[in-house]
Amino acid sequence: MSILIQKPLPEEYHRLKPEELDARIAAARSALGSEVVILGHHYQRDEIIKHVDFTGDSFKLSRLAAGRREAKAIVFCGVHFMAESADILAADHQRVILPNLEAGCSMADMANREQVEACWQQLTAVVGDGTVPITYVNSSADLKAFCGERGGAVCTSSNAVSIITWALSQGERLLFFPDEHLGRNTSVKLGVPTDQLVVWDPEQELGGNTPEQLRNARVILWKGFCSVHQRFTVEQIAAAREKYPDVRVIVHPECRHEVVQAADDDGSTEYIIKRITEAPAGTTWAVGTEVNLVHRLAQQQPDKQIFCLDPVVCPCSTMYRIHPMYLLWVLDHLLQGEVVNEIVVPPDIIAQARVALDRMLGFA
Ligand code: 13P
Ligand code: SF4
Repeated sequence: MSILIQKPLPEEYHRLKPEELDARIAAARSALGSEVVILGHHYQRDEIIKHVDFTGDSFKLSRLAAGRREAKAIVFCGVHFMAESADILAADHQRVILPNLEAGCSMADMANREQVEACWQQLTAVVGDGTVPITYVNSSADLKAFCGERGGAVCTSSNAVSIITWALSQGERLLFFPDEHLGRNTSVKLGVPTDQLVVWDPEQELGGNTPEQLRNARVILWKGFCSVHQRFTVEQIAAAREKYPDVRVIVHPECRHEVVQAADDDGSTEYIIKRITEAPAGTTWAVGTEVNLVHRLAQQQPDKQIFCLDPVVCPCSTMYRIHPMYLLWVLDHLLQGEVVNEIVVPPDIIAQARVALDRMLGFA
């Protein structure tokens, strides 16, 4: 991803009190009516979530972006790769807006096209053809295009099982990027033997593997991770079980494999919400995902005990960059007929990235 710089907001936005921001966002939103749809990822802070039209995980938000053709503007309260996916899936007349251009994703930044192309070349030189590239949706649009061009697809945490199953049936092996952990968790779930999983470190020749290891591999996992989910540990799970013997532990599949194995369940943010919401009153839940979502669940469902597995609060700092003043600023411009912070994916990249995203959406 090229580095995007957010231009400073006019001073008046910084001076607004939370209740003023709230009232002005609500007024702007209602004046804009159905010309605008505001989407919010589950990790957004409460002050944003209360103003969005729809919330969702990455998969649900992609579908919503593809389906709201009446809206001329899609305001995406999430991170950059999500807004890019929305632009790829949106119709030509729709403009996608990211309220703060500096809301990126550190995991998505761990693989770029140059590195992945270098990997592909080295890999092909050793193993020949027959590799299917799969990118996690947390990646730049040009990596989605890379997959589209080579018979691969995108996946999210809610459909990784179906997409990886499909990919394994299409080729002799798959290259999965940028999240090592989602790739490993899903592959092991599908019965891929652990000695056929190798990690590709882009800083090393052949990714740090021998030619023999690569020839034997069924899945090649990019060495990337989420700094938020990396914090959850097996020790935290043990401590939660000791304190609350009936606790149910549910984590996101971006957590390390041993954490997912020690948990009772894992899934996308939408899945985590569903499982907890459907559970009986009186149950206790330790949740291994971003803390804004966990706190909201705890507030909304006081009949259950819900807490974050990591006692040290750790929000996704990039999601957190969508502050209400940025949301108001983009809505104020829309009221004046102006689009700021538009996310525009170049047409040649859209064409190929769309192939990979459409393949994924076909699995719903
Ligand atoms: P979900 O698709 O499960 O919402 O996950 C997105 C994400 O970035 C998790 O870190
Ligand atoms: Fe990226 Fe992790 Fe934040 Fe998700 S939680 S957007 S993977 S940095």
